[in-house]
Amino acid sequence: MALTLLVTGVAGFIGSSAAERFLKEKYTMIGIDNFEQNYPQQIKESNLAILSEYDNFRFVEGDFADECFIESLFDKYRITNIIHLGAKTGVRKSISNPIEYIKANLIGTTNLLEQCKKHKIQEFIFASSSSVYGNRLDIPFKEGELIDKPISPYAASKIMAESITYTYHKLYDIKMTILRFFTVYGPRGRPDMAPYIFMNCIVGSKPIIQYGDGDTARDYTFISDIVDGIFEALKRTSNWQYEIINLGNSYPVRLRDFIKEIESVVGKEAEIIVEDPKEGDVSITCADISKARRLLDYNPKIPLKKGLEQMFDWYNSLEEKYDV
Ligand SMILES: NC(=O)c1ccc[n+]([C@@H]2O[C@H](COP(=O)([O-])OP(=O)(O)OC[C@H]3O[C@@H](n4cnc5c(N)ncnc54)[C@H](O)[C@@H]3O)[C@@H](O)[C@H]2O)c1
Repeated sequence: MALTLLVTGVAGFIGSSAAERFLKEKYTMIGIDNFEQNYPQQIKESNLAILSEYDNFRFVEGDFADECFIESLFDKYRITNIIHLGAKTGVRKSISNPIEYIKANLIGTTNLLEQCKKHKIQEFIFASSSSVYGNRLDIPFKEGELIDKPISPYAASKIMAESITYTYHKLYDIKMTILRFFTVYGPRGRPDMAPYIFMNCIVGSKPIIQYGDGDTARDYTFISDIVDGIFEALKRTSNWQYEIINLGNSYPVRLRDFIKEIESVVGKEAEIIVEDPKEGDVSITCADISKARRLLDYNPKIPLKKGLEQMFDWYNSLEEKYDV
């Protein structure tokens, strides 16, 4: 049977990048997005404009937390595979707005799973996050570890969504892959995330606010590596029942070194203002990617410097730069 993919969050950073890959590979695809106002809609519209060039793509605007919208969507299109990349994103903002995160990330995910049950959809891929590991120092993080100490509503919403996917897998035999992404950056990168913010501040000679002493570290992962992982998951989810797989780089970089790398790519020094660490931020992330290597042939190829250079080329090509 020919596949029809549903990609949620298709106008976003990772959603549009993965969607473009699926379209290039000739999959028929429906994409949905509600243009959530986490950053300017223009960015999402320009992401969509690239996808709209493809004949095998159809976009439907709507909210996956809205049961009626989701029901009518699945009644209209014969979807065979769901790649659920849409979510309310942003760790810090979730602290002041937890209910919205639970609605989008838990209720929204459950709405999609209900349609899997109703329409007997056999395969579901879900974008989870390194934040589910909480604030732990024993790196690298392995998929089998107990995830019971989320330190932000965003992280909690991803743990809850992972749990409900497992329940639907068990009850209705849906094959699932849960992908835990680690700090993704690159072209189309979110303007509310550190890589873009820092680049934009340095270029515009505005100070960077560095939360904490610069010792925190992140496992920055380049977008094309993440897209490779998602694409392999699409091809292989039918091979297993339920798998949770980290997609990271397994190479944590300290915040102060990360800023230095961006300075060198931009060719200009940053002015840094140090403030207290922010609640919700973990000290370090680092993925154990041995399972991804084994199950997905995953092999992150883009080192930080090269990835930041590609991101900077994209940044320079933007007609408008955004302060979020
Ligand atoms: N970027 C990262 O570093 C990172 C790390 C870990 C996990 N993730 C996860 O990867 C996925 C993609 O993240 P991203 O960085 O591309 O974020 P993004 O904000 O660019 O994309 C998410 C998209 O989902 C859409 N959306 C949100 N709520 C929706 C709803 N209720 N109905 C329809 N569409 C909705 C938004 O409008 C947005 O376009 C998310 O699930 C996120 O939690 C991202």
